[in-house]
Amino acid sequence: MTKHYFEFSCPVKMVAGFRALEHISFELDTRGASRPLIVSDKGVVGAGLVDTVLAAIATGGGQVGPIFDDVPPDSSMEAVRAGAARYLDSGCDAIIAVGGGSVMDTAKALNILATEGGVDLRQFAGYNNLKRPLKPFIAIPTTAGTGSEVTAISVIKDREEGVKTFYCSPFLLPDVAVLDPRMTLKLPPMITAATAMDALTHAVEAYTCLARNPMSDAYAEAAVRRISQWLVPVLLRPDEAEGRLALAEAAAMAGIAFSNSPVGLVHALAHTIGAMYGVHHGAANSIFLPFVLEFNLPGSRQEIGALLLSLAGPEVYAATPASRRAEEAIDRIMALKDKAHELCGLPRTLAETGSVPREDLPRIARTALDDGTVVMNPVDVTYEGALRVLERAW
Ligand SMILES: [Fe+2]
Repeated sequence: MTKHYFEFSCPVKMVAGFRALEHISFELDTRGASRPLIVSDKGVVGAGLVDTVLAAIATGGGQVGPIFDDVPPDSSMEAVRAGAARYLDSGCDAIIAVGGGSVMDTAKALNILATEGGVDLRQFAGYNNLKRPLKPFIAIPTTAGTGSEVTAISVIKDREEGVKTFYCSPFLLPDVAVLDPRMTLKLPPMITAATAMDALTHAVEAYTCLARNPMSDAYAEAAVRRISQWLVPVLLRPDEAEGRLALAEAAAMAGIAFSNSPVGLVHALAHTIGAMYGVHHGAANSIFLPFVLEFNLPGSRQEIGALLLSLAGPEVYAATPASRRAEEAIDRIMALKDKAHELCGLPRTLAETGSVPREDLPRIARTALDDGTVVMNPVDVTYEGALRVLERAW
């Protein structure tokens, strides 16, 4: 049920389109910055994407500072410290992140140290422990999934303490998110599908969770519509720039939706098998999404049914009896999974991942209950319920 009270915020400026990168120099100039540190990783640099960004900034008359590309796949405290040292030693005055989730997380945390100087990052861990704005920060995602360019959270692995620390504050939000299809044109089909299914899950969970509200609903519906319309065409024609842009927009919209109306059981299960067996986050979400929606039917039948309009279009929605729309919406997501499996091998089940032992399902169910995301799931999650979903997903 929609709450009578809600909060919604997204102060990130979106700069999106076929030549969005060329506008970065204007955004830097507006913020009085002329020496941004470029934060990226070796893969993104090797793919030539940082060169594309640098050329676009030069075209716009802008300048950049050094490139820090030592971000590991799983962002680490060491990388944050090394990046901050580079920022401070080089007299930088802004940060431009070019990459996926780990690069974004690293850049956000690095911005804390760049602003606060040589302090222990850990003192800012948790919720709302930043008290002033950070340095100008421009995010350029090179995948279309996490929505990290519009979220106020950063997760950093702390090897010394053996834990993952998280930082959540509105001051971590980028000032600008730049969505340009040139950044995702070369993404391999499997990563394209997995990240798009992550974004779809963000939108669907935001739309069906207990904190849903009219604003997050609007972003979630728009995200679901774009992914339903464009994922298969992009898998068939990877250099389809219009579709790439639509998927990037969808990921940002879904990020805005779940920043204001959190994810639920799908993510709890995906976090668990990601940590235990290294299953890709988007692939894991894709596996669980329809089975969790089946589980959630008693608490959110109406919302799941309403999503059929965005998933299948007005003709199908109108032709489907109201009492059948929720099941039809779930069937559409199953069909999207089947198509992605056919086109790029995205696993549809836990068995197809080849890395989750069936005898571990009870342990996965128990562990998932401790994931904070289950709190907003529209149906109470019990051990038996989680196990039932896992067995369906097997
Ligand atoms: Fe996710």
